[in-house]
Amino acid sequence: MLSPAGVPGMTLAIETSGLTKTYNRRTRALDGVDLQVWPGEVFAFLGPNGSGKTTLMRILTTQFRPTSGEARAFGTDVVRRGSEVRRMIGYVPQETSVWLDITGRENLLIYSKVYAVPKDRRKGSIEDAIQAMGLEEVADRMVNTYSGGTIRRLEIAAALLVKPKILFLDEPTIGLDPSARKAVWESLTAFKGECGTTVFFNTHYMDEADHYSDEIAIINRGRIVKSGTARELKRSLNGEILRFSRNHKQEHYQTHGQNGFDEYAVKKVRELDLVRDAAVSGSLLEVYVDDGERALPLVVEALWSEGVTFDRISTARPTLDDVFLRYAGSCRSGRGGDGG
Ligand SMILES: Nc1ncnc2c1ncn2[C@@H]1O[C@H](COP(=O)(O)OP(=O)(O)OP(=O)(O)O)[C@@H](O)[C@H]1O
Ligand SMILES: [Mg+2]
Repeated sequence: MLSPAGVPGMTLAIETSGLTKTYNRRTRALDGVDLQVWPGEVFAFLGPNGSGKTTLMRILTTQFRPTSGEARAFGTDVVRRGSEVRRMIGYVPQETSVWLDITGRENLLIYSKVYAVPKDRRKGSIEDAIQAMGLEEVADRMVNTYSGGTIRRLEIAAALLVKPKILFLDEPTIGLDPSARKAVWESLTAFKGECGTTVFFNTHYMDEADHYSDEIAIINRGRIVKSGTARELKRSLNGEILRFSRNHKQEHYQTHGQNGFDEYAVKKVRELDLVRDAAVSGSLLEVYVDDGERALPLVVEALWSEGVTFDRISTARPTLDDVFLRYAGSCRSGRGGDGG
């Protein structure tokens, strides 16, 4: 299916169907991944450690073969026509991928040869990449004098030498401080605005997915458990979260298990008509509701009728962290299941 329904003639930037990957006949890293990424989108791929993010990226960038299923980049099969795919993509791995004991410009020269940029275009491509990632002032300094954020921008610059149609970034800002993360994303956003490149990135940072992506998918144990825009994902948690917190010293805490909220009382809360879901996390009870004002008195009454007291109530709109915990966290439970 190269032309999705409703958009005749539009070829997806990335499309996978039924993609699986099993390592050593034992570890099922991907378990039937169906994914669609539109051209020009910034696509964020979220998931806990070991959920399969890097594995998927390695398949899409032709480094690994899938065990079964299909994947295409702009309609080109990543297994059968790998060399064509490699010519249209840039890739920045999770690990450091530049040499530290030479300058940034020398790194880019080496990469331009590795990527077979024609000799007469090398200088221009290197200058463009330096400019795109804002490296003009540091390009002739040794990389071992760069900050972590600047190294990351150099790595991205190397991936831009081939003027890729799709840029793959595996955890582009891991370990960077907030201002370095911001600098990386500002460069990427400016470059993206100019070139319209499709950007596919893996991350653990919910705020980056929230701020910089057009579309998000959450993977858990090799399966995509939720996808949509940040707004859609947050809305999928329906309305508001009522948070009840307990004082650890209360007598009830001593008699009702380690988290201080009686499971039977939580079950009763979940069963209320106005309640979508409820989850206990430590000494906190979170209740997902459509309409906080209407639901609050009923939830309070249900808790009191079970003898459950609490000392603080607050309300909040769901954040992407809540969405992640709901669909890929391990300690949540409730009516909707954890999706994994
Ligand atoms: N080369 C490999 N050989 C065997 N098992 C592997 C290999 N690479 C990954 N795995 C396993 O496959 C699963 C998925 O790993 P993967 O690296 O894709 O996860 P990830 O989501 O990128 O994790 P992280 O957030 O920690 O980077 C894990 O159980 C991992 O141990
Ligand atoms: Mg990874």
